[in-house]
Amino acid sequence: PLLTVLLCASAYLAGSVLFAVVVCRYWRLPDPRALGSGNPGATNVYRVGGWQPAALTLALDAFKGWLPVWLAQLADLSILVQAIVALCAVTGHMIPAFFRFKGGKGVATALGAGLALAPLTTLIMAAIWLVIMWRWRISALASLVAIISGPVISALLEPETLPLFGLLALLIVVRHRNNLIRLAQGRETGL
Ligand code: G3P
Repeated sequence: PLLTVLLCASAYLAGSVLFAVVVCRYWRLPDPRALGSGNPGATNVYRVGGWQPAALTLALDAFKGWLPVWLAQLADLSILVQAIVALCAVTGHMIPAFFRFKGGKGVATALGAGLALAPLTTLIMAAIWLVIMWRWRISALASLVAIISGPVISALLEPETLPLFGLLALLIVVRHRNNLIRLAQGRETGL
């Protein structure tokens, strides 16, 4: 239990590091929270600074989701504990201990955690994201369709991770509520 608590706390703290803000500061770009959608995520870093800082943000935000789950696996902790650790990292990104508790939407962090816990499901979700992105160029739409597909795909392929993908879908859809409103009104700008 002590190890579980320590891992959950470190996952939350790692999740709390908003790499969109860190990368933009390091790259001497404007703060992504002040431009575009205002979201501290890879998509908005793309709007602010192009694909290179966006790719770095995506990689680092995914890494902070992947690492704590991988550590939980190394310690031979159960799938349930691994899933809780994953949720702690994603929650850290959404409601970070730093940055006045104002975080992002959790897509990249969930990607990293998902790759560690359910690689097959997550790779298919990533493929769905890419197809929608390629066709419509709206990141929020791609994220929403991919994350909503998660529970269905995991139920078929990696059913022990279904509760995790159910909760991730719920959390991430809620964080996209403004995107959803804009999508419904046909006002979502995409990239
Ligand atoms: O991962 C976030 C993405 O789904 C939407 O970001 O900046 O378009 O609101 P944004």
